[in-house]
Amino acid sequence: MEKTWIKVCETLDVQADAAFACEVEGRMIAVYQVDERHFATENVCPHAYALLSDGWLEGIEIECPLHGARFDITTGAVLEGPAECAVKTYPVRIEGDEVQCLL
Ligand code: FES
Repeated sequence: MEKTWIKVCETLDVQADAAFACEVEGRMIAVYQVDERHFATENVCPHAYALLSDGWLEGIEIECPLHGARFDITTGAVLEGPAECAVKTYPVRIEGDEVQCLL
């Protein structure tokens, strides 16, 4: 199926240096704002089940609240275990007041 840009939240929903949880088209997505840029990842940690939006964002690193794995929100790469798989990332664009992801 072809991917399309879909609104996931409003720009005002996403605080600077914090993660915002949203659910769109059955997907749980975390949206982040760092240095006035927006990023989006799958919200469920690939290690077990925890929401990354409940974790701690430091720069471009999100720390899982359950076992402390750290991911790069720009690439999804694992920076520190115990997670071994990258978290999925989504392209983001801003259209007016909307944060849109390519889903
Ligand atoms: S559930 Fe995220 S590190 Fe274990």
